[in-house]
Amino acid sequence: MENGNVFINSHPLVQHKISMLRDKNTGTNEFRKLVEEIAMLMGYDALSDLPLKEIEVETPIEKCMTPVIAGRKLAVVPILRAGLGMVSGILALTPTAKVGHIGLYRDPETHEPVEYYCKLPDPIEERTIIVTDPMLATGGSVCDAIRMIREHGGVKIKFMCIIAAPEGLERLTSTYPDIQVYVGHLDRQLNDHAYIMPGLGDAGDRIFGTK
Ligand code: PRP
Ligand code: URA
Repeated sequence: MENGNVFINSHPLVQHKISMLRDKNTGTNEFRKLVEEIAMLMGYDALSDLPLKEIEVETPIEKCMTPVIAGRKLAVVPILRAGLGMVSGILALTPTAKVGHIGLYRDPETHEPVEYYCKLPDPIEERTIIVTDPMLATGGSVCDAIRMIREHGGVKIKFMCIIAAPEGLERLTSTYPDIQVYVGHLDRQLNDHAYIMPGLGDAGDRIFGTK
């Protein structure tokens, strides 16, 4: 489903894998694999506007002009930690993409993001940038990440998340209406601790086996 710049995924494979992710009995190893697979399936959509150029290729039959991806100006930028789990899925589609990192964690009391790292590939202003984070809850983290990328000169930014809360999606789209947002599933709402319901719990802890 598309609503302006927001694309809510409805593919049965993505929905099935998200249900497996939600299950509290899904262990770290399977959880990681599922996050990677979902990112790859969602990446197929998010990269559907990559520019093409024609090159000449000789088939066993004849020479022809045929399209290939133009340029190599893609950057994948995970929001640490949980966004890291999605990177390999996107790199499986575009192995030459560069990878940046943005370090943010949510203060457990205020739920506000705290910055601790930012390293982006040059020239960031020429790249299509895919920011990844499995969870869009209050929207504070992704809005901060986009602000940081903009401050470094990034222009064309897309955001990919596996589960979004309506509150966070609203904050993101009202703050940055020009950003294309790819959502695996739109959940019901946030609870009093700003966790997504029904959600999947703490994505970083489930990917990395911490608590
Ligand atoms: C989680 C998640 C997002 C953020 C979403 O990270 O991966 O980055 O919370 O919440 P928000 O939309 O309310 O900002 P967390 O702060 O738990 O850090 P971690 O990935 O290092 O565990
Ligand atoms: N971060 C998570 O990992 N899960 C949530 O539900 C909200 C924020």
